[in-house]
Amino acid sequence: MTADRRIHYFDDSAAFARALSRAAGLGAARVGVHRFPDGESLVRIRRPPGRHAWLVRSLHDPNGKILEVLMAADALRRAGARRVTLVAPYLPYMRQDAVFRPGEAVSQQVVCGMLADAFDGLRTLEPHLHRVSDLGGYFPGRSSISSVPLLAACVSGGRGRTLVVGPDEESEPWVRAVGRRARCPWVVGNKKRMGDRSVEVRLPDLPGCDRALIVDDIASSGVTIAQTARALARAGVRRVEAAVVHAIFAPHALAEIRRAGVRRIRSSDTIPHPTNAMRSAPLFARSLGVRR
Ligand code: R5P
Repeated sequence: MTADRRIHYFDDSAAFARALSRAAGLGAARVGVHRFPDGESLVRIRRPPGRHAWLVRSLHDPNGKILEVLMAADALRRAGARRVTLVAPYLPYMRQDAVFRPGEAVSQQVVCGMLADAFDGLRTLEPHLHRVSDLGGYFPGRSSISSVPLLAACVSGGRGRTLVVGPDEESEPWVRAVGRRARCPWVVGNKKRMGDRSVEVRLPDLPGCDRALIVDDIASSGVTIAQTARALARAGVRRVEAAVVHAIFAPHALAEIRRAGVRRIRSSDTIPHPTNAMRSAPLFARSLGVRR
């Protein structure tokens, strides 16, 4: 391990950062944050960065965190880093990638634009990319890491034939890839969203199966997974499980999903949560391309 090749991390991503540091063979140093009485933050780099510095923070509950990572990028450069890469296990604001109703902002462009001004590179797991299919317009090279190996691993271990189910057409790319990798059938439903906590999910005719694994990139209010589980139950599927990449889980989301009959729910560790069961640090470590 080279002394000054290190990742710099915020306290709220400490567990992920330590796992990444071990997997990539990089040192790790905490970024200090002082909160003033008026709510402003002072960000301080505690250890000198190498020429290339990696800044780690998962950006769920994003508004304050984004400002602080921008400041940390500035601090790293002032302290001597020539290249700064943001490692954001969860990248927020990707779903608002268009104006859906007149008067709205395109949050994806605003947030990616700010981050691209401050960072030379980005690594993130399964950002919600739909109408915009990659982040190459903002960050050179490949910045998004596929969650398919993690999700496909959730298929194995169950008894009998598993059906992989995506709630909507937006989930189709990774549902198809998970089905292929795990060699099992897959379907995607049709979702209509009426409000933040109100969706309708319709499923096509289902092939016979012993259990269904709902896969999705994000569980926020939980209603998408809950309504998909209810549709599966109506279609006669007896055991339903779920695997999500990013465990946002707003208050009551997990209870809502369990009430809908989901027997087991697993998530990756991009957002700390009791359902975390998939370790993403090894995938991130490989993507950094650091030679030991
Ligand atoms: C949207 O297309 C995403 O892939 C998820 O399905 C959605 O964000 C889940 O949100 P919620 O848990 O609030 O239904």
